[in-house]
Amino acid sequence: MIKEFTSINRVNGELILPGDKSISHRAVMFGSMADGVSVIGNLSTSEDVKSTMNCFKELGCEFEIGESIIKIKGKGFKGFNKPKKSLDCGNSGTTARLISGILAAQDFETELIGDESLSKRPMMRIVEPLRKMNAKIFTSDKATLPIKINPSALNPINYEMTVASAQVKSSILLAGLHLVDETIVTEKVFTRNHTEKMLGLKTVDTGNGVSIYSSKKKYPIHFQINVPSDISTASFFIVLTLLLPDSELVLKNVSLNPTRTGVLRVLKNMSGDIQILNKRSEMNEETGDILIRSSRLKNVEIDKSIIPNIIDEIPVISVAGIFAEGNFQINNAEELRYKECDRISALCENYKKLGLKVDEFNDGFSLSGGISSKNVLFESFGDHRIAMTFAVLSSLLKSGGRVEDFDCVKISNPDFLGQLRSISF
Ligand code: S3P
Repeated sequence: MIKEFTSINRVNGELILPGDKSISHRAVMFGSMADGVSVIGNLSTSEDVKSTMNCFKELGCEFEIGESIIKIKGKGFKGFNKPKKSLDCGNSGTTARLISGILAAQDFETELIGDESLSKRPMMRIVEPLRKMNAKIFTSDKATLPIKINPSALNPINYEMTVASAQVKSSILLAGLHLVDETIVTEKVFTRNHTEKMLGLKTVDTGNGVSIYSSKKKYPIHFQINVPSDISTASFFIVLTLLLPDSELVLKNVSLNPTRTGVLRVLKNMSGDIQILNKRSEMNEETGDILIRSSRLKNVEIDKSIIPNIIDEIPVISVAGIFAEGNFQINNAEELRYKECDRISALCENYKKLGLKVDEFNDGFSLSGGISSKNVLFESFGDHRIAMTFAVLSSLLKSGGRVEDFDCVKISNPDFLGQLRSISF
């Protein structure tokens, strides 16, 4: 479906966005692993989290889906049923990588499959440490899905992360939850810490930029959580508000976990008028309201250490960069090539269509020059964040713009269009 976006004059109002996708995946997983009934409010409405729920349904968990809460009847320690078919992770890397750690410790065999995009994404990053734990885990010849996992007796490891990835860290720690002795993961670049926080795992901050996490036999106890809104979803509306004149927006109860708020730090450094109101905490996760007002932005240097923190928001930050004083440049972000699509190449291709001067590097890109083309048809590459990035950009252009295969936004935020409409003038 090609979606047409006309120019928006200004935005104003308040939005309550769906629950954070990363926290929601984990709430579904940990609730499924727990004994008893867990209650989750404001669960992400994304297709990705539905993929996680479908996998755990296959493993025998029961979900009662209400208007505003879902209840999960977990299966407890090693209580999962052997699934009757392959577990379909859909488009979701988080599902595939985290569940691999859980499944490696089960005493039945499983197979993980995914859609075309997920079936191209690298899996060696989890296979390698899980094999060190003695997992019997096998990939396709290209080190991608399908993944087959056979039962084995796992052993703990002491693992130093080679890629900055919360998915890899979580996969290892989740396998470690099944073992008597401690599994240790050391991280030199901080990645999102929802797994550690939600499970209350031991974390040691050595103070010199190194963090050590560990897990050992401790299964989750049933819990209640009201999932705060997703800051990655929020970032599209934040950039739109900053760039439009006479605009003001309040985003209510957004996750403000410091491992996720890099986007606010970068946009504030760019002179964005962003204020946090009513800061509070929900199950160890910081939340608050975000007030955003129109701003004159300036491009700034984006430091290497903040990249993992803003990895999902770089596409929309680059839109801010086009309209900001100076030229936008991002480096140290090669990981973007391994997301739902090769996001560096997708962004560069679309920006070239606008007439911008684009320099593509292996680990990033730079943008300069002006916009010369009108009513461009942007490609989403089936990637939800690329689709929303160019929806925001199209809405900022006098000529508007079009985004092909826009439907893919349902992967993270099915109601993006309704939310956009409700604040646009
Ligand atoms: C996620 C971690 C990040 C992020 C993804 C969600 C998670 O991926 O890009 O959208 O929930 O753990 P990596 O761990 O591959 O960096």
